[in-house]
Amino acid sequence: MNKSLFLSISIFSLFLITSCKQKEAVPIYQDTSKPIEERIEDALSRMTLKEKIDIIHAQSKFSSPGVPRLGIPELWMTDGPHGIRPEVLWDEWEQAGWTNDSCFAFPALTCLAATWNEDMALLYGQSIGEEARYRNKDVLLGPGVNIYRTPLNGRNFEYMGEDPYLASRMVVPYIQGVQANGVATCVKHFALNNQEYNRHGVNIILDDRALYEIYLPAFKAAVQEGNTWSIMAAYNLYKNEHLCHNQYLLNDILKGEWGFKGAVVSDWGGVHDTRQAIYNGLDLEFGTWTDGLRSGSSNTYDSYHLAHAYLDLIENGEIGTEELDDKVRRVLGLTFHTSMNKNRPFGSMRTPEHAADGRRIAEEGIVLLKNDRQVLPIDLATTKKIAVIGENAIKMMTVGGGSSSLKAQYEISPLDGIISRMGKDAEIVYARGYVGDPTGEYNGVVSGQDLNDTRSEQELMEEAVQVASESDYVIFIGGLNKSNHQDCEDSDRYGLGLPYNQDQLISALAAVNQNLIVINISGNAVAMPWVNEVPAILQAWFLGSEAGNAIASVLIGDVNPSGKLPFTFPVQLTDIGAHALETYPGDKEQIQNRRDTLDVHYEEGIFVGYRWLDKENIKPLFSFGHGLSYTAFEYARAKANKKSMLVDGTIRFTVQIKNTGQRAGAEVVQLYISDKDAGLPRPPKELKAFKKIFLQAGEEKQVSFTIDKTALSFFDPEKHEWVAEKGKFEALIGASASDIRQQIKFELR
Ligand code: BGC
Repeated sequence: MNKSLFLSISIFSLFLITSCKQKEAVPIYQDTSKPIEERIEDALSRMTLKEKIDIIHAQSKFSSPGVPRLGIPELWMTDGPHGIRPEVLWDEWEQAGWTNDSCFAFPALTCLAATWNEDMALLYGQSIGEEARYRNKDVLLGPGVNIYRTPLNGRNFEYMGEDPYLASRMVVPYIQGVQANGVATCVKHFALNNQEYNRHGVNIILDDRALYEIYLPAFKAAVQEGNTWSIMAAYNLYKNEHLCHNQYLLNDILKGEWGFKGAVVSDWGGVHDTRQAIYNGLDLEFGTWTDGLRSGSSNTYDSYHLAHAYLDLIENGEIGTEELDDKVRRVLGLTFHTSMNKNRPFGSMRTPEHAADGRRIAEEGIVLLKNDRQVLPIDLATTKKIAVIGENAIKMMTVGGGSSSLKAQYEISPLDGIISRMGKDAEIVYARGYVGDPTGEYNGVVSGQDLNDTRSEQELMEEAVQVASESDYVIFIGGLNKSNHQDCEDSDRYGLGLPYNQDQLISALAAVNQNLIVINISGNAVAMPWVNEVPAILQAWFLGSEAGNAIASVLIGDVNPSGKLPFTFPVQLTDIGAHALETYPGDKEQIQNRRDTLDVHYEEGIFVGYRWLDKENIKPLFSFGHGLSYTAFEYARAKANKKSMLVDGTIRFTVQIKNTGQRAGAEVVQLYISDKDAGLPRPPKELKAFKKIFLQAGEEKQVSFTIDKTALSFFDPEKHEWVAEKGKFEALIGASASDIRQQIKFELR
């Protein structure tokens, strides 16, 4: 070969090698211009068996390994759902001791639901998603959409109320807002996780109608409309299988009927059985053997069900890799959407914008339950002295409550909010009134408040009554807190009543001052035996960092309240189906025999919340959808665009709403549908649409609702499908479930 030919061949080969190398430098799985499915297949084809096993279980409390050899990043998770949790140690629940991990605390999800405003859900999702992203989190463990079945459930504050339609409408924008940041939501806890009592061992027994009509719709909306990239399976059992590996709910319904393509993440320590974990729909195992359900050991993560136990079964030839590949594909999908998403924004943390968003959501979610004699808003021109009474006026509420506990950068207490808004114009005096729970610690995060008080109940009460009797207004701020057996994970409440002798104190205050305003802070309904003694009541939830400012703006009227209850306040516990039928907390005989797995029969079926009260003709203390304003709204001239609709058609209802009061305000107009001649038992009415409208004083607007057969359908268990039966219906338009202002009959033909 001559020299120049040799040189040309060498140069050409070098060119070929380099161009191949260059091509290899951007493998398909890293090429963001390629469709995700193609990238997933490419990554999968490059992974060893061990790497596949590694990627489907945790490597620390909140992370799973990626594939280091291939540059596929780890996945980092964080609670959720109302703020970004502070960093814990690699394998401990204790604090990592970072000094840059405080967050902005958003209001709890009950408050978000109480806004009845989808724009607020989007804003919430966008803002918390930005915080998650800034902290380099890939998956936000939330939001929660378990239905409010009993007011005793300690985790209701993390959820969106008792109605499947309301929860569905609110969860979708939340997801979209979060995921726009390249952070996945992990909607929880799928499903039937409606009590904390014996939460790892309750086996839920219910009929298919209740399952499909009440407990699943919000999850279905999260999957099909919100397109959530992950879902967290629950602790409890259904059909005697734990939800973290449940053939019926995960395989048949979630992945089968709904076509969910994302990843199913176990709740922390919720996995119990290797084979079920392999076959029954779980994709990513977290929290097992690490002080989750059982204690950890040195090789903790290798001992996971989806770790060595799984690997051994494959290597022994006992089972194949079809299920494994499916799990890996789903986890890779989650990774590509999040930690491998090069286009995602950088996020932001603790910004003034987040504070403004959180405050706005808090202000819109506060519910004015009662306002006799227009005691509210407070008129500072005629007020010299305001007494603020109650522990919740000063107690930090962002610490505690379980996994949603936060290390907030700041938290404005109600008392501080009131002082800063009203302190210049009136004298504000504070009296404790009662001592509830002076502790303030969760997983090493301390509130830093010393709430100990050695005075007797009598002394505290006397002081409060004295102060109240000398003031123009008394603002009592009490309710529940985030301690065990209150609004807190892992335990339920003992009863509907307020703890710490608050009832007696409220009555004593009412006896000495006519201008008593009670502010109940909770994520649950409470009994109010003093309701007729008190002129004004506000439901203020766990409102997060801006709590005090939001409460003060509503008290003074800077903000006209427009929140509506996302669940019923019953007079007594037995006004709720689960309690009337004595099905809570589970089978009595089994409780007596201390059986580990406890059957809970949801005998009330579809009659949850207002559906039960309507059926039984029970008057609630405050009904679902209730919430007053400082102005008044008139509902007039409701009309339908036709008298009957065809099964595949639509019908439109319009109603004229006028603000007849003196100030601007917002009203949530609610449409309920009543099936007048159903073949199966149906609730007397069900929420099927709502709209929040803002009206200036004197302004009027037309609100319209267009519905199709989905609003008329029930789940037929025989046919296993949604059915709209021809016949007579009624559209009920009103301001709450018990304040229907306009009714229109129509027919489905
Ligand atoms: C809770 C989950 C939470 C997880 C991680 C579990 O105990 O049930 O809601 O996301 O812990 O903290």
